[in-house]
Amino acid sequence: MPNAVIAHGRSVFASACSGCHTLTGHDTRSPGGDLGVTKLSEATILSFVRVMPVRISSGDGRAVAAYVHAAARG
Ligand code: HEC
Repeated sequence: MPNAVIAHGRSVFASACSGCHTLTGHDTRSPGGDLGVTKLSEATILSFVRVMPVRISSGDGRAVAAYVHAAARG
């Protein structure tokens, strides 16, 4: 995944996901849980993104799924 996509995903995460999720690698009791511990595949993360209560473009969805997958240590 190109770094530009990951970098874009990071900014999408900050604006669209960080209200409910953290990405620290340990449980933070955030409302949606910490995604840094996820073992989900990028494709599965993307399918969750599509059912999250946020409206983002499909390009932003793919970027944020790539970022979460790259950042997760699970
Ligand atoms: C309004 C709150 C909210 C927002 C915003 C939100 N989520 Fe979620 N998300 C949740 C909740 C609640 C769950 C279910 C957590 C559970 O029951 O384990 C969840 C679950 C998930 C899961 C599945 C985690 C797992 O291991 O089962 C993923 C992946 C995920 N969200 C990614 C995202 C991403 C990426 C974004 C930003 C595009 C996002 N979410 C935005 C609340 C939110």
